[in-house]
Order: sequence, then C-alpha cells, then structure tokens
Amino acid sequence: MIMSGASVKVSGLAKSFGRGLILKDLDLNLKPGESLALVGASGCGKTTILKILAGLCPYDRGEVKLEPSDLVPSFVSQDLGLYPWKTVWENLELPLVLAGRDKKARNTKVKTIQADMGLEGLDGRYPHELSGGQKQRVALGRALIVNPSVLLLDEPFSALDALTRESLGLHLASLWSGLGLTMILATHSIEEAVFLGQTIAVLGGCPTEVTAVFRNPGPKTPAFLTDRLFLDLVRKVRLALAVTGGQKTETWEKSGRV
Ligand SMILES: Nc1ncnc2c1ncn2[C@@H]1O[C@H](COP(=O)(O)OP(=O)(O)OP(=O)(O)O)[C@@H](O)[C@H]1O
Ligand SMILES: [Mg+2]
Repeated sequence: MIMSGASVKVSGLAKSFGRGLILKDLDLNLKPGESLALVGASGCGKTTILKILAGLCPYDRGEVKLEPSDLVPSFVSQDLGLYPWKTVWENLELPLVLAGRDKKARNTKVKTIQADMGLEGLDGRYPHELSGGQKQRVALGRALIVNPSVLLLDEPFSALDALTRESLGLHLASLWSGLGLTMILATHSIEEAVFLGQTIAVLGGCPTEVTAVFRNPGPKTPAFLTDRLFLDLVRKVRLALAVTGGQKTETWEKSGRV
C-alpha cells in the first residue's frame, strides 16, 4: 500500500455554535507525512476541529487549506460510525463501493486491509459481535482502505483497555510511518498523544486556542515508550494541561502556534 501525505494549513480559524464562540484564531500547520496530536479538556473543541478539517462542519472565519486541494481526508469519528446492519466485510468494502470500484478490485483491497489490521476470519460478523479492539480496527481499516493522504482520528482507542490501546497505538504508528500519510488525532490520553504525535498541541482557554506546543522527535517504537525523553514529554504535557486548565500562558518552552 503506497500512500503519501498532504499538507494541512489552518489559519485564524474561528467557530461558534449559536452565540457561543468555541474556537478563536486557531492555527495549525502540518507538512506532508507529519502527525499532530490534539489534547485538551472535554468540550474544548477537538471534535469540532477534526470535523471542520473533514469538511463536515462549517466555520465562521479563517482559512483551512489541504494540499492537494482535491483530496478527501479519511475521518474516524469518536463513535467509530460502523454500520450495525453491515458485516465486517461490508463495512470495510463500503468506501470502495461508493467509489465505484469493481468487485475484483474490492476483494483484493479488502483482503489486504484485513491482513494489515489483523481482521481475518471475521468477514460475516456484525459490529455487535466484535470486541472493542476489533471494532476500532474495522473503523481504522475502513478509513485506510481508500489510501487517504490525510487521516483524522477522534479518540481512536478511547473505549479500550490499556494493553489493547497500547498495542493498537503501536500498530497505528507503524502503519503511519510506513504509509507516509498525514495524521491528526484527538485524544484524552497524554501517553498516546506524545507517542503518536510528532507535534502535540495543548488546547485551552475560552474560547479555545493552542496554549502550548511540544515536539516529539523520538522514534515510534515500543522501546520509546520507556525512554526518558518520552516520559519527560508526558510530564510536560500533563503539566501544561493541568496549569492552563484553559488559560493561555507565555511560560511554555514553545507556546503559541503549531
Ligand atoms: N452541533 C452543536 N451545536 C451546539 N454546540 C455544539 C455542537 N457541537 C459541539 N458543540 C459544543 O462545542 C463545544 C466543543 O465540542 P467538541 O465536541 O468539539 O469538544 P471535544 O473537545 O471534542 O470534547 P470531548 O473531549 O468531550 O470529545 C462543546 O461545548 C459542545 O457542547
Ligand atoms: Mg470529541
């Protein structure tokens, strides 16, 4: 599977629901193949940002630019969005059906994705017959099946136990680095954010802004999870989240824009 990432540039983004301003003057900047993790309190606007990037939500002001401009990001929503009346095979195949791909091409592609995601032998099962981890892998597989340039993940592993979560995180990291796609994920797990994001943007304030930015130059390997650099970054991001509690501060090493 050869994919290549796209650039994502957001500048001066503002969004309100009714009279409540949720996002104010938000800037994000990713080069092709980079990964960004968004962390912030519940309700700060992470899902809203991802939906805007996916083209699923209008915004009030600012610019959202994906290059090349004709691409459609793949979005895995917080509730996974699997169709309960479709089997695993049919859920995985759906984007290819919608894209008008013929049966032979669909079969080949679904089998490749099943192997990549460890989903063999589950073809005829329905979502309610799957474990949490299997459901997450179907949702991720369905997002990857169209060879996206940009992958948007909203709390991808939130419903999972710690071990499954870590193993899927490692799997996602190796897929991401192998495929070269651009990835933005929202998560409540600081460890997940630090591991999967090359950049970690802490969101806070009211309305929400980027209050701190951290870079993670470390490798996305299991060994890195116990590395001093990783643990140090986890601590710094945790502090940034705790201290900002929403308030923007100038004391961060690299505050401001991503
Ligand atoms: N369609 C909507 N209409 C009105 N308000 C909305 C709508 N969607 C979201 N909001 C509000 O916008 C804010 C941001 O919501 P969003 O879902 O983006 O937060 P979040 O950071 O993803 O939260 P969580 O971590 O709980 O998933 C919240 O206050 C929410 O109540
Ligand atoms: Mg959310």
